[in-house]
Amino acid sequence: MLLEFEGSPRTELTALAAYRESGELTGKLFELTVLHGLAGYKARRVLVAGAGKREKFDLASFWKLTAAAARLLKGKGAKSAAIALEAGFDSPDHVSAAAQAVIEACWEPDQRKTAADKDGSRSIEELAISVSAPSSLEAALAAGQIIGEAANLTRDISVEPPNVLTPMALADRARAMAKANGLACEVLDTDRMRQLGMGALLGVAQGSAEPGAMIIIEYKPEKPAGATRLALIGKGVTFDTGGISIKPADGMEKMKYDMCGAAAVIGAMQAIARLKPGIAVTGIVPAVENMPGSKAQRPGDIVTSLSGKTIEILNTDAEGRLILADAITYAKQLGCTHLVDAATLTGAIVVALGNSQSGVFTNNDELLGRWMSAAKGSGEKMWHMPADDEYRELLKTVYADIGNVGGRAGGASSAAVFLKEFVGDTPWIHVDIAGTAWLDDAKPYMAKGPTAIPLGTFVKLALNWQ
Ligand code: BES
Ligand code: MN
Ligand code: ZN
Repeated sequence: MLLEFEGSPRTELTALAAYRESGELTGKLFELTVLHGLAGYKARRVLVAGAGKREKFDLASFWKLTAAAARLLKGKGAKSAAIALEAGFDSPDHVSAAAQAVIEACWEPDQRKTAADKDGSRSIEELAISVSAPSSLEAALAAGQIIGEAANLTRDISVEPPNVLTPMALADRARAMAKANGLACEVLDTDRMRQLGMGALLGVAQGSAEPGAMIIIEYKPEKPAGATRLALIGKGVTFDTGGISIKPADGMEKMKYDMCGAAAVIGAMQAIARLKPGIAVTGIVPAVENMPGSKAQRPGDIVTSLSGKTIEILNTDAEGRLILADAITYAKQLGCTHLVDAATLTGAIVVALGNSQSGVFTNNDELLGRWMSAAKGSGEKMWHMPADDEYRELLKTVYADIGNVGGRAGGASSAAVFLKEFVGDTPWIHVDIAGTAWLDDAKPYMAKGPTAIPLGTFVKLALNWQ
């Protein structure tokens, strides 16, 4: 793969001049041209990749372009590829991003198709990366591979249909990942959750014939660098019908993706187990199916959460915040010092930010700084949204300590402030990924379906912790 920039083409490659003159090569971002028998190259086929404007070509665009190139090549049946990174694009970060991009680019959502010629049966099996100064890049290469594989594990789990991926099946996936990577994993069942008093989660779970679960995955470093214990919490609603406040039928099949936060936590824990950061990390996944069964909770019900606070259920479709409330309280009871949750929590965040940026809410500027710089490193775009106390007014009810919805205006922020009620003073980040966890249409660099967001930022946050 050669990089060709718009407006400032490579001058040293006279072999490309004719293509440029013909107008076939402009260097526009994602313009991919396969050339056969290019003079001066051993490879029979060379892919020239348009990189766009040089000043806009950052690490995130490099990732996307490499992935787009890999998707084109594998579509053509290529089994092996080599990437030549020239000076300026051969840092450890570039090597890592290239390996990760090619691995993620090979993932396809058609795993349950039976046709022999499906997209998922094509893959790049061998990748060579050539750099000008190849010293000490092994760790970067390994990290890229580990994060890419973890992202694909997250996708494998996210894409499963809801009849297969029940809450208990999600727990099985977490257990299997933990076992394969030397992590401890515990699954709290209905009886145990009832003993502990997780009334908010159990209220959601009771409408389904499938029992809910609270899944805990533990990573402990050999030599802890301090007392930090980071909790990664992911919303694991394996299907969200809305419950008694039922959703419209049109498009409801997409609500199988309501466990993408959970899948990102499980994937991140695998990468963390393999990359061994210096801090303790606990993955917590509250898992339920939100169904309108005959035992389902009703609007008007009042439940007592693990924290002791009572919640009036005003809309059973605002279920994510209920299961997260108990997960957050449990994380604090376990002794976690910093909390980060990821959830496909509100339609309102999609209205506010669309599909390119996740919404970030916090009660702590220092942790926000860590999170945003981790996001810069992962290339996952995040936008800071308000979770100020003013929004708490929207959740007031005379019958209980708090109501579970706050109306349409500011819906993503009132959801965040509901969570904040259970967080207290512990430093906390909430990431609303309702708009970013799923691609409705394929991009040149990614298949339709789960994006694995915010796995990359989860992993960087743990690795960068000092
Ligand atoms: N899982 C949904 C959030 C969602 C909705 C994601 C649409 C993507 C698209 C969540 O459980 C939900 O239903 N939220 C409600 C909250 C409302 C009842 C306050 C919503 O956003 O409509
Ligand atoms: Mn819902
Ligand atoms: Zn939901």
